[in-house]
Amino acid sequence: MPTDLDFIHQFTPGSSDRTLLLLHGTGGDENDLIPLGRELDPAAALLSPRGKVLENGYPRFFRRLAEGVFDLEDLKRRTDELSDFVVAAAEHYHFDARKLVAVGYSNGANVAASILLRRPGVLPSAILLRAMVPFIPEELPNLAGVRVWIAGGTQDMIIPRANTEQLVQMLTAAGAEVTARFFDAGHALTNTELVQAKRWLAMLTPPGYN
Ligand code: MLT
Repeated sequence: MPTDLDFIHQFTPGSSDRTLLLLHGTGGDENDLIPLGRELDPAAALLSPRGKVLENGYPRFFRRLAEGVFDLEDLKRRTDELSDFVVAAAEHYHFDARKLVAVGYSNGANVAASILLRRPGVLPSAILLRAMVPFIPEELPNLAGVRVWIAGGTQDMIIPRANTEQLVQMLTAAGAEVTARFFDAGHALTNTELVQAKRWLAMLTPPGYN
């Protein structure tokens, strides 16, 4: 029996063999991104955990010391904990981990980026909406074969474009195939980018896909 299913979460089976791992932003919960997941891929199974850290009562996936300044020790620990949860959930719910696509928004996108950098192999592909560099690894992992779609907002006051671009460079240098798009938007998501994300997802054929 898996022992690491210790996140409050929702799991909704799908009619295809893809699973979306939905990772909410600060103040969200496991219900938040369900409509977004359904919109992006109506056939996919949805796995949606709630971040365990509370900041003034608002759930997050790891602690921060100030806006954009992360508690790196906590980030490491929470990244490992969430990675273990994902691996255990694949076993428990019998989904194909090679066909998992993380969909993270803001804090959820940052923890997904942290999993890519710290626990390569857990996420074969990811859609990162408003992401920044979570930490600078001593050594880049090997992300060959990993596909990532990143969307930034040119007027985002929380996540500066330059920071997202640094993440794009880092993931690309690690060997991932990264598509980055910047939209005329702030921190909130726009319909235009979701349409583009959906299109990218429909074309996605990472290793493991037939
Ligand atoms: C973070 O803390 O992960 C980022 O600043 C995004 C946010 O949640 O506000």
